[in-house]
Order: sequence, then C-alpha cells, then structure tokens
Amino acid sequence: MEPVKVGLLGLGTVGGGTLNVLVRNAEEIARRAGRGIIVSHAAAREYDPSLLDGIDQVEVSDDAFEVVKNPDIDIVVELIGGYSPARELVLEAIENGKHVVTANKALIALHGNEIFAAAQEKGVTVAFEAAVAGGIPIIKALREGLAANHIEWIAGIINGTGNFILTEMKDKGRDFADVLAEAQALGYAEADPTFDVEGIDAAHKLTILASLAFGIPLQFDRCFTEGISKIEPQDVAYAEQFGYRIKHLGVTRKTGEGVELRVHPTLIPERRLIANVNGVMNAVLVNGDAVGPTLYYGAGAGSLPTASAVVADIIDVTRTLTTDPGNRVPHLAFQPAELADIPILPIESVETAYYLRLTAQDRPGVVAAVAGILGDAGISIEAIQQKEPAEGQTEVPLVMLTHRVREGQMNEAIDRIEALDSVSGPIVRIRVEHLS
Ligand code: HSE
Repeated sequence: MEPVKVGLLGLGTVGGGTLNVLVRNAEEIARRAGRGIIVSHAAAREYDPSLLDGIDQVEVSDDAFEVVKNPDIDIVVELIGGYSPARELVLEAIENGKHVVTANKALIALHGNEIFAAAQEKGVTVAFEAAVAGGIPIIKALREGLAANHIEWIAGIINGTGNFILTEMKDKGRDFADVLAEAQALGYAEADPTFDVEGIDAAHKLTILASLAFGIPLQFDRCFTEGISKIEPQDVAYAEQFGYRIKHLGVTRKTGEGVELRVHPTLIPERRLIANVNGVMNAVLVNGDAVGPTLYYGAGAGSLPTASAVVADIIDVTRTLTTDPGNRVPHLAFQPAELADIPILPIESVETAYYLRLTAQDRPGVVAAVAGILGDAGISIEAIQQKEPAEGQTEVPLVMLTHRVREGQMNEAIDRIEALDSVSGPIVRIRVEHLS
C-alpha cells in the first residue's frame, strides 16, 4: 500500500521533534499503522536542517497555504501555534478534504466548535492529543478509556512552565524571572510567556478537558483564570507548615447547578500524589463514578514528548482512513448532536476551602475581630497561626485555613476584614482543594 503523506506546518520545537520521531521510528510506526507514513512536504520560514532527520527527502516551502492546498497530502499537521493563520490553515485543509492533526490548544479552545463542525461536514478527522498535557495521552483516556464513566471532576497540573517555576521557587528559592528564562530556553514556554504564568495556556487545556469530560461545547471565555505571578515565597513556606503544597491547578467539576471551570493557584495536601508532581512534569487526576480516581503523569511540554502525542494522532488517523466518518470516535467524546447546554458556573458560586494571609496589628482583640467576621459569614476556621513580628515591627502575619464556603460569601467577609483599622493591605487568598 502507498505510504500516507503528511504535510507538516512548522519545523520548530514540536515540528522538528515530529519529523525526527517519524523518521527514527518509521518501521515500528508502519507495523502499528498498517502502512508507511512519510513527511512529503513541510512549511517553515526558518529552520536548522542539522536538527532534522531526513529533511533532504522533504519538499520545504515558506508558504503554509501551498502545503494545505497540495492534492498529494493526506494529513496536514499544524504545529505553528497561535490563533491566526492557524485557524485559516486548518479550515482550508478541512475544506480540501484533508485530515488534520494539531498540537494547538489555543486554536481548539477558541475555535474548536467551528473547526469540528467543518470537519464533521467534510467527513474528516481533527486530532489534537498533543494540545493537552504534551505527551500524556489524556484525551484518549477521556474519550475512550473512561467512556463508561460519569466523569465527576478533573484536577490537573497542565502547564509545565508554571509548575517548573513553582518547583524551583520552592526547592531552590530561585528568582521568578530567572526560572522563566530557563523554561523559555528549554522550549517549554509559550511564545508569550504570560500565557503560562497567568494561566491562559492552562485555561485553554482545561476548556478542552471539560468538554471531553462533560459533553459540553468548548467555552474558553467562561473559564475563570488566575495566574501564579503574585505567589510569594512566604505563602509557599506557610502552606508547607500547614502540610500543603501550592500548585497551579486547573479544576473542572460537574455539580447539580452546572460546571465549574477554573484555573488558579491551589493548596493541595502534600500527601496527595499530584502535590508531588514537580518540574516541567504534568499530571491530570480524573475522578469517574465507576473507576474512581485515576492519575495520568508525564512530560507536558518539550520537543519529543509532544511529538509522541502528535505522531500517535497521525497513526490513529492513518488507521481510520477507511472508516466510515459517522463511526469514528467523536471529536469531543460525545456524539455532536448530544452536546449538552450545561451552564458554566461563575466563580462566586464555586465552593472551596481557603488559605488566607493578612497583616494585622499585634494587639489584643484583633484575632477575635477577624474570627467574628468569618463566624458571622458562616465561615469556619480550620487552623490559624500568628507569626512572630519582624524586628521592630508592630504588625504580624496572620495565616489561616478555612472550611469550604462559597466564593461570594468569602468575598464579602474579606471586604469586611480589609476594612478593619487593625488590618493593613489586601488579604492574600489562595483556594484549597483536598481532592478526596
Ligand atoms: N507552554 C506549555 C507548557 C507548553 O509550559 O506547558 C505545552 O503546552
């Protein structure tokens, strides 16, 4: 049988890795796919041929649209990233009847509904395993391995750069900017690193996971997103004293009222496996009603780990080239006509426990006033510690953990505490998840 021909858009970190894996493992891949897979064409403005296996066998153009129009190509692999021209390229590839593989989480989270509808119409597949958690096959797990379950919630460390920064800050006391620069040099960080640090990249990925878990359309604009740039070393240290680690977590949960969709720094009990996922590694914890909790761990970024997921998708598409389009695994795990209109909950309606740190005068009655406000709001304190005042200071940090409460209620209590004369500055609030 003729080999399947791939047109690769992008020869950077992931594109280069994809070519190298396809060339290096060609024999093994053909045994799995049932036929050979070759990269016949690629598009890139700049690339280093010395890093690319078999590049002399590939026709390289600097015009990606030329590749998506080429009638010889069966599968277009979009590894350029970003919203545009990736959206136009993918839609044109679909229009030309080509299957698409992409690692582009921003594209799927924002334009996935439109792209999947176009693919459905044309009877082609758009595969996107590498879009979430790099090399971890979490999309396959949700779409196929866990298909028997009612998924209850997912909590994931789904940005390697952010996890690398938090880990280095905690273990080595390194400077935020210095660690970020290293992540960029290693090819982990996004082109705009605020996407990593402010949680936008994780929100793209969580949006995709929520749709796969609950059978809802992609709704990136409804995801609550809070970054890690304001996390201070003292909060990392106080969290440890309470027996917790701070992780940048994406959480999605189906409740009786709707779907929670949120990315924010989170205290997790240190005994949980996911609290011990460090460096650039990712992990996704999925709770299904039949299977219980399952944990998926691995490299969430980088050239070869991401290429592993891209190539797996290329193999999957190759295997299904002759399958009736109506009987393929649906893009968002549920049949397109079965996607449900479940509301995404505003963050004020979400219930979590909290870590609070405030700066208060070291005098009698202050703790009682703070505890009184929390008590009036129906918020129960789980643990409280007053720290030593620094030399010559009259103010002290007061740190506490609360029981679960709705965010709206907590906001009102925080406003009242911040208005006390004995409390200065804004209160630091980090949500706590026990993940049990
Ligand atoms: N910037 C992303 C990360 C790359 O650090 O996880 C993988 O999506």
